[in-house]
Amino acid sequence: MGIAEDIAGDWDAALAALAWQLDCGVDEVTGEAPVNRYEVRAAQAAAPAPAAPRAVAAEATPQPVAHKTDPVEVARGLAAKAASLEALREAVHGFDLCDLKRGARNTVFSDGNPKARVLILGEAPGRDEDLEGRPFVGRAGQLLDRMFAAIGLSRQNPDTEKALYITNVLFWRPPGNRDPEPEEIAMMKPFIERHITLADPEVVVTMGNTPLFALTGQRGIKRARGRWTEVHGRPMLPMFHPAYLLRQPGEKREAWADLLALQAHLRKGNRG
Ligand code: URA
Repeated sequence: MGIAEDIAGDWDAALAALAWQLDCGVDEVTGEAPVNRYEVRAAQAAAPAPAAPRAVAAEATPQPVAHKTDPVEVARGLAAKAASLEALREAVHGFDLCDLKRGARNTVFSDGNPKARVLILGEAPGRDEDLEGRPFVGRAGQLLDRMFAAIGLSRQNPDTEKALYITNVLFWRPPGNRDPEPEEIAMMKPFIERHITLADPEVVVTMGNTPLFALTGQRGIKRARGRWTEVHGRPMLPMFHPAYLLRQPGEKREAWADLLALQAHLRKGNRG
């Protein structure tokens, strides 16, 4: 093997090792040398106490109080300013207060036809979605496509009557596909709500527990699925997540009943 091949081999191996660590959920780089935290703490305890402030300190110019940035407030401000889906996509792209973004390869915003009558809200990107930058492209996504195709709806269809628009509660993949934290959901909520307002679908279909909780504060998809409710003045149908259906194929009967209920609702033609 020549030097160039050696270097290429090392490079590929290093890149593969890095990708593997990212997949395992590593999201922070530490120093090369180990640090004994007990020794550091002991050294800090042994260090002399800082000198008492001199009287003159009391006369020093008052410093402004540093306010901690509230990610929910920032998200609210950015979302409110977005006047179009494109502007909202940009706003989400520029939002740096969600730690998940640091470990993600892509911001996964949406897919499908933004003028569709049906908006599907999933949970979060997984590995495949993170790599491709589109929601629901892995195994669960393929099942989702087949489920909705069975009632004549698809994300590729340019006809708004037969189209789907797809997005998620989180725009970045959680490490190791862990469940989203309530704080993460809270800071995404202004974006989700604005997303729904701007896309203006006739029906919102939520897949699984996370979007149900994000939009209604309710937990327990087993009880909620198939029961129409309302979100911001429009009908919402909670359904099982396709990843759950892959693990529990026996529940596909319920999912089929929900799809038929959605089809019947759309046939009634509630578009104002
Ligand atoms: N699961 C989701 O909820 N969303 C995706 O985009 C992929 C898998």
